[in-house]
Amino acid sequence: MTEKKAKLVIGDKEYEFAILDGTMGPSVIDIRSLYSQTGMFTYDPGFTSTASCDSSITYIDGDKGELLYRGYPIDQLAYDSHYLEVCYLLLYGDLPNKTELEEFENRVTRHTMMHEQMHGFYNGFRRDAHPMAIVCGVVGAMAAFYHDSTDITDPEQREIASIRMIAKIPTIVAAAYKYSIGQPFVYPRNDLDYASNFLHMCFSVPAEEYKVDPILARAMDRIFTLHADHEQNASTSTVRLSGSSDANPFACIAAGVACLWGPAHGGANEAALNMLREIGTVDRIPEYIEKAKDKNDPFRLMGFGHRVYKSYDPRAKVMQESAKEVLDLLGVENNPTLQVAKELEKIALEDPYFIKRKLYPNVDFYSGIILDAMGFPTSMFTAIFALSRTVGWIAQWKEMIADKQKKIGRPRQLYDGSVKRDYVPLDER
Ligand code: SDX
Repeated sequence: MTEKKAKLVIGDKEYEFAILDGTMGPSVIDIRSLYSQTGMFTYDPGFTSTASCDSSITYIDGDKGELLYRGYPIDQLAYDSHYLEVCYLLLYGDLPNKTELEEFENRVTRHTMMHEQMHGFYNGFRRDAHPMAIVCGVVGAMAAFYHDSTDITDPEQREIASIRMIAKIPTIVAAAYKYSIGQPFVYPRNDLDYASNFLHMCFSVPAEEYKVDPILARAMDRIFTLHADHEQNASTSTVRLSGSSDANPFACIAAGVACLWGPAHGGANEAALNMLREIGTVDRIPEYIEKAKDKNDPFRLMGFGHRVYKSYDPRAKVMQESAKEVLDLLGVENNPTLQVAKELEKIALEDPYFIKRKLYPNVDFYSGIILDAMGFPTSMFTAIFALSRTVGWIAQWKEMIADKQKKIGRPRQLYDGSVKRDYVPLDER
């Protein structure tokens, strides 16, 4: 079959570039030789039209509101699978059989404790430090304790580092929460599943027996699955760019945590709940909708809009259903924040400003309501997002490191600064 070509005409010259097709989604124009052929760069701040890599892990159809992990639709995985099985799928490409799943779960379970000396890091932080500041620091410091899995050229070490990262992140995040409320750290338990273990490490205290509610554990596990991976989003691109310099995996994940913290990205779940609380009652919604539309006002509807989804984020749909389930279980079904969220969504989706810009609720719009109802402070929301996304960052990092075409990421620029000029001595200025 003849290769498809794209033609580019600059002045009286014509250039040809190959068009590459994936298995789904937009094809790409291979412009790797553009600069050497034309002496020009492409210009795409924010990478709105740029594919930074090829990947077989996650696929999003923004128009259809479709999200697939290794081809499996997110709603099927959220309802029929569970997080560690989804971790296996993202890491190895296929659903595990019973033996493979048991072996994987055992390996993760036996790596959930952190090195005892790592507890000392927490004391270096103020009690009111944001949990993301703590998680970012402690994850980066893992390289100081697990240097036997930092040689990225050794597949065995890459595998151990991956298991360690996925296994320890709940312990690290739960410890950040315990530290912030002045309670003792709780060790993981090998008889609990991943989500139950996290709730146990967050909410149990030495003074009394703590029983994990299976419905809350199910909701927690579903939240982990919904946040596990999402193509080349800002934090995943940060992890890939860090990994392209052969930095160790713990440093790369710490970079991903730092990027996710931004309110335009993973920090939106914390910002969305704070916004819903600030609106407070349904009658104040119109005032905030007008603020969100006002170009002179930096306020945006947090939890709304998305670079890729130009229809309803499929994760938000599942999240909304889970919110109702958890609130009913906890007997807070007429939760005022949920009422404001539903009314805000309804009004925004009927407003021409949002319709024209295809702005819909995203994954962060409802997640905060569930986490709040489960007893987490808003400051913990993004740390829980980081916990969930760790498997996605690791899977994407592993794919990049194993890629034969791997090169250090080094974008160029359109320079619009001063032209060359000579230094002026101080007494002549
Ligand atoms: C996540 O990339 C991912 O996959 C991320 C994520 C993942 O799983 O990794 O899905 C997780 O980060 C979800 C997004 C969480 N962020 C928020 O909810 C913050 C609020 N949303 C916006 O900041 C914004 O929608 C972004 C950052 C999410 C997307 O921004 P884009 O794609 O760069 O779009 P844009 O800023 O160019 O906006 C297009 C227009 C603009 O208006 P005009 O200049 O065309 O008149 O829409 C407006 C924006 O002003 N707009 C909003 C808005 N989001 C966009 N107006 C009001 N409220 C909003 N939320």
